[in-house]
Amino acid sequence: MTNQTKASSLTSTDGDGPIQFMDLKAQQARIRDKIEERLLKVLDHGAYINGPELGELEAALCEFTGAADCVGVASGTDSLIIAMLGEGLGAGDAVFIPTITYNATANAVLLAGATPVFVDVRTDTFNMDVADLATKIEGVLETGKLRPRMIIPVDLFGLPADYPSIQKIAKQYNLTIMADAAQSFGGKQGDTSVGALAEISSTSFFPGKGLGAYGDAGALFTMDKEQGEIWRSIRWHGTDAQRKESVRVGFNGRLDSMQAGVLLEKLAIFPEELELRAKHAAQYDVRLAEKLAMPARDPRSQSSWGYYTLALPNRDAVQAALKDASIPCAIYYTQPLHEMEAFKAYAGEGEFAGAKKLAAEFISLPMHPYLTSGQIDRVCDVVLSVS
Ligand SMILES: Cc1ncc(COP(=O)(O)O)c(C=O)c1O
Repeated sequence: MTNQTKASSLTSTDGDGPIQFMDLKAQQARIRDKIEERLLKVLDHGAYINGPELGELEAALCEFTGAADCVGVASGTDSLIIAMLGEGLGAGDAVFIPTITYNATANAVLLAGATPVFVDVRTDTFNMDVADLATKIEGVLETGKLRPRMIIPVDLFGLPADYPSIQKIAKQYNLTIMADAAQSFGGKQGDTSVGALAEISSTSFFPGKGLGAYGDAGALFTMDKEQGEIWRSIRWHGTDAQRKESVRVGFNGRLDSMQAGVLLEKLAIFPEELELRAKHAAQYDVRLAEKLAMPARDPRSQSSWGYYTLALPNRDAVQAALKDASIPCAIYYTQPLHEMEAFKAYAGEGEFAGAKKLAAEFISLPMHPYLTSGQIDRVCDVVLSVS
């Protein structure tokens, strides 16, 4: 298969063949020759770090998102840490994060020296509960031990969080918003792309993400060019533009030239892949809506469909039935972060009723651009057979 092969010809109605949860092999087959060319170019020029691919990628990602600047970094975790260091966050600063997210969000806050304050999530959108966010901010102010500084909404499974409401709260309390868009890159809210929905946005290019490298990588987005220069310094040990003097504390958070080259080729087919994901999500919806509650929609937003996740009271029975049919699924976030050993000291007050319910009910079905409609039907047949 060559890179000229259109994705549409890869999605037939054929229901045969093993179903993959995500299919990086089919994607690689489409663009293998382009990727080889990119990697060979890096071998030829030898600038393994800070080669021309990095600037090319950062410019292409700015164009894709509409952000004023983009800074490529070594991972989605590094991007969160770099942005918090750039904001001068540290001891005594409170950062509000949802309790249902990947542990990296909480780790990053603690590694930056700040304190996570956990917020409940909504059972319809799976994202940060804005009413609970306001309660948690008031609680921190009343207790008087921490300074509220930042909100990190996480766009869980690909759906952008409720940025308009979060922006109102951020303005009221003078807080910075950093979107953790590790799962939603490619999504939109209104006409604005993920990457430009908050003053700072962070994403991950982990191989399994919607736009993934062949190793670790991530990026930060800002609407303020000066901020980008600070992040470039932090990702290079905090040095000045000539890389001589240390002008701030930093570390090695660089995105290498080979990963940048891979990402450039994947970005070229990403819009088409996003359309295919949306088409597959719509097919799942039509079949499953007969009996089940659908993953939340927000009429203002387009999900990137990084994952197709349902909250099902009979989740364990569905998982068992899929296993019997040799269909892969994934169960993410079986425990809210505030209950975990590493973070329970920061649990604070609160019921976290939404998070508890979702942790017991989440199940993610196969989702990738190269599924066939026949395969989606097979998944739905099994899910519906036990619902
Ligand atoms: C919500 C969220 N935040 C942060 C990260 C961290 O990204 P990375 O694995 O690239 O460090 C991930 C990745 O898995 C994630 O899903």
